[in-house]
Amino acid sequence: TDPALIRNFCIIAHIDHGKSTLADRMLQITGVVDDRSMRAQYLDRMDIERERGITIKSQAVRLPWDGHVLNMIDTPGHVDFTYEVSRSLQACEGAILLVDAAQGIEAQTLANLYLAMNADLNIIPVLNKIDLPAAQPEKFAEELAGLIGCDPSDVLRVSGKTGEGVRELLDHVVRTIPAPVGEADAAARALIFDSVYDTYRGVVTYVRVVDGHLGKRERILMMSTSATHETLEIGVISPEPKPADLGLGVGEVGYLITGVKDVRQSRVGDTVTSATKPAGEMLAGYEHPKPMVFSGLYPIDGDEYPELREALDKLQLNDAALVYEPETSAALGFGFRVGFLGLLHMEIVRERLEREFGLSLISTAPNVIYQVVMEDGKEFTVTNPSEFPAGGKIATVREPITKSTILAPSEFIGAIMEICQGRRGQLLGMDYLSEDRVEIRYTLPLGEIIFDFFDQLKSRTRGYASLDYEPAGEQEADLVKVDILLQGEPVDAFSAIVHKDKAYTYGVDMAKKLRELIPRQQFEVPIQAAIGARVIARENIRAIRKDVLAKCYGGDISRKRKLLEKQKEGKKRMKMVGRVEVPQEAFVAALSTD
Ligand code: GTP
Repeated sequence: TDPALIRNFCIIAHIDHGKSTLADRMLQITGVVDDRSMRAQYLDRMDIERERGITIKSQAVRLPWDGHVLNMIDTPGHVDFTYEVSRSLQACEGAILLVDAAQGIEAQTLANLYLAMNADLNIIPVLNKIDLPAAQPEKFAEELAGLIGCDPSDVLRVSGKTGEGVRELLDHVVRTIPAPVGEADAAARALIFDSVYDTYRGVVTYVRVVDGHLGKRERILMMSTSATHETLEIGVISPEPKPADLGLGVGEVGYLITGVKDVRQSRVGDTVTSATKPAGEMLAGYEHPKPMVFSGLYPIDGDEYPELREALDKLQLNDAALVYEPETSAALGFGFRVGFLGLLHMEIVRERLEREFGLSLISTAPNVIYQVVMEDGKEFTVTNPSEFPAGGKIATVREPITKSTILAPSEFIGAIMEICQGRRGQLLGMDYLSEDRVEIRYTLPLGEIIFDFFDQLKSRTRGYASLDYEPAGEQEADLVKVDILLQGEPVDAFSAIVHKDKAYTYGVDMAKKLRELIPRQQFEVPIQAAIGARVIARENIRAIRKDVLAKCYGGDISRKRKLLEKQKEGKKRMKMVGRVEVPQEAFVAALSTD
């Protein structure tokens, strides 16, 4: 294809503002998917994506429109997947900035807009969902125009649901987004912006060709690893993979298959070139995603440890951001310490492990990474709270901090500030986006956000606040380890690192929560919270002689069986810690809000 006829663009938006729905309409209007095969969220191919209505992996699809070739890249909107967004942006010249006409600008609208501006993209501001009775297009067109510095009349209005305005939007893309520029005769250079493992085809690598040409049956070179492969298949997605025998030229977006089995051999951000005529210089790559949140994952049934390892190995083929290493817990046995990009990433990985690999898992409460320096100068990184040195010879502890942005109606300013202050936040600034909507910026420790911060924020603002955060380095903090003891024995999986001023309240709350969560056993179970050797809270679970069958007066055998089955069911998520049966909920008790 003549590069002058190509337009590469992405859609960026806050979560739920309607990217996938708009993408669906574009597929339909351009005739790529006929009405009969259309289904909602066409591009969200994973079950979890469809069930949760969220996009996790980016998708690229080629749309013919008015004599042009449009390559649309659908991007995820959630904060955990920002790294996916930034890679997709590198493959585009323009971005549709989509805003829900009933909600207005939200935290991720801003975050994504800044990413797009950094990547020098041409921005098309668009209000979506104008069919909603609650839509306020005038108000939000003004807000959006104010944000990007254009006239409110330049803000397009569409409905991804009804299709209104979508043709005009496609025309606008052709008119205003620049065609890609590259050197057709130069050595081939293509940017890998995604890499997906497929059971049948191996790794499918998504590329954007910048210079030159990539063909079928060509020996290619991955520039960062110097590995060479042969392209077994090369093509475009429209909406299913279509082999392109002529290969891909300047500005084109498509996929290639080389038969490799591990996404790490086809790394996102790497440059693909020809092995026989290699390019001199790599394209500017992406930063490798760094895990921010860690948690322990243990099989409930210890015999399933090898299966868990195998499942993690397989999942990593498809998720380069997933990291893990084996660990042993005195309480939970053999398992893994797993690093995630954020809480949603954590939930998704866990759900996929259980669902796709049939495992039953116990997970521990998430924590961040700490840098500890001892008085003797020794320095180490703590990814598991139980490895945190118990007081004594610690010189300094550093914890990760974030720059957080909260958007909300201005009536909630007081409530938001109270929550942030209570979490060691430092106010950075505040701006009014319109008369009644405000953007508040705080520095907040990441460790304070990963617990119930978002839930608190939502409940104190009746769901109106949105949050975005980005890593902003580390800071020193006065942190201590709080241990929990059952029957006098510390349970490593319950240890947490908490700010000194909150340690006492934390210990008292945890002991109380655990007393409620751990069922009564045949013997008494004392619960203690301690900092080092100092016990700061105590609770007691009284013993019972539990005979559930005593509840079934008479001889109704089916009822008895049901009760027994129910009891068995309830036991599934129990783990023996010493002699005490502990339910999964207890291991994540620190996460729940009172
Ligand atoms: P993520 O993929 O999770 O980032 O979400 P998304 O931005 O792709 O949102 P999605 O397309 O899943 O839409 C979110 C919700 O808004 C869904 O319930 C859609 O049915 C609804 N929706 C999307 N577009 C429109 C629209 O134009 N009008 C109306 N009334 N509803 C819409």
